[in-house]
Amino acid sequence: MKIVVTGGAGFIGSHLVDRLIKEGHMVIVVDNLSTGKKENLNKRAKFYKIDIRSSKIPQIFKKEKPEIIFHLAAQVDVRKSVEDPIEDAKINILGSLNLLENYKKLKLKKFIFISTGGAMYGEADIIPTPETYPENPLSPYGIEKLTIEKYLNYYYKVFGLPYVSLRLANVYGPRQNSKGEAGVIAIFCDKMFSGEQPVINGDGKQTRDFIFVDDVVEANMLAMKSKKPGVYNIGTAKETSINTIFRKIRELTGSKCKKIHGPALSGEQKRSCLDFSKAKKELKWQPKYNLEEGLEKTINWFKKNETVTTTDKK
Ligand SMILES: NC(=O)c1ccc[n+]([C@@H]2O[C@H](COP(=O)([O-])OP(=O)(O)OC[C@H]3O[C@@H](n4cnc5c(N)ncnc54)[C@H](O)[C@@H]3O)[C@@H](O)[C@H]2O)c1
Repeated sequence: MKIVVTGGAGFIGSHLVDRLIKEGHMVIVVDNLSTGKKENLNKRAKFYKIDIRSSKIPQIFKKEKPEIIFHLAAQVDVRKSVEDPIEDAKINILGSLNLLENYKKLKLKKFIFISTGGAMYGEADIIPTPETYPENPLSPYGIEKLTIEKYLNYYYKVFGLPYVSLRLANVYGPRQNSKGEAGVIAIFCDKMFSGEQPVINGDGKQTRDFIFVDDVVEANMLAMKSKKPGVYNIGTAKETSINTIFRKIRELTGSKCKKIHGPALSGEQKRSCLDFSKAKKELKWQPKYNLEEGLEKTINWFKKNETVTTTDKK
């Protein structure tokens, strides 16, 4: 099949592109390389360096005639979304709408949207949290993801356009960017390998649901095949504290760094953990990697790439 992957030069998107190509699909990547990297791009994918808001998107869609769109391109930094919600909405809402309108005009087969589980439910009192729990996003980033889910439902109900939205937990794995407000696992791995001191925000007792990137790719593949439209949590239903993550990475990397705590981030969520029963039942998906297996693969990647990272820093 011919498939468009927006954000295909990014962390999760590039793994998805690799898998789609491995399975014989023709992939078209749409990415403006704002956080994505050229070196992540699969050489067998066709690449358009373009913003999802561009007025040239219809030309690309008409020329390429894809059947499926995986939409991962986004401004992903929650703190940036708080600092500049207007610019953020332009990318994450208007950019997504630009794709959706083209999806509608060209009557493509399916739209798969990558949403958030971690930033969707706020401080939930049911853990692990199911999709039926009221959405209560506490950042512009989360609000934008929920808004696009509402649009998807509208396009489906009014025009019959199928969709799946995957609400991801905290994803980690090879190629994750360790700069800016990246995933904590990438930050700790990078710091420990480069001999820098990582800092734990607050008491480190805050918990997250960490899901390995290959499991996320598998969920995308199953979402593509599924006949049922809907919203699915993609997580492990296991809570892990930042203190535990720090300890495990220190052990696995053999780092001698100290355990240092900095001030807590204001408004940081205390707990986040997703119930994936719906995805298990309807998509036949469940995570295959436990935290130790996923961390080992991630750490091996950071170890191999550390020479590049340290050279970059000089
Ligand atoms: N990493 C996680 O833990 C996590 C959790 C939940 C949801 N997500 C979602 O998964 C998707 C991928 O995130 P990621 O972690 O791989 O981040 P990433 O920053 O590596 O990937 C985002 C990609 O989108 C591209 N992009 C950004 N703005 C664009 C624009 N205006 N036009 C075209 N391309 C643009 C970037 O260049 C980058 O390649 C995002 O939608 C994100 O919200 C990620």
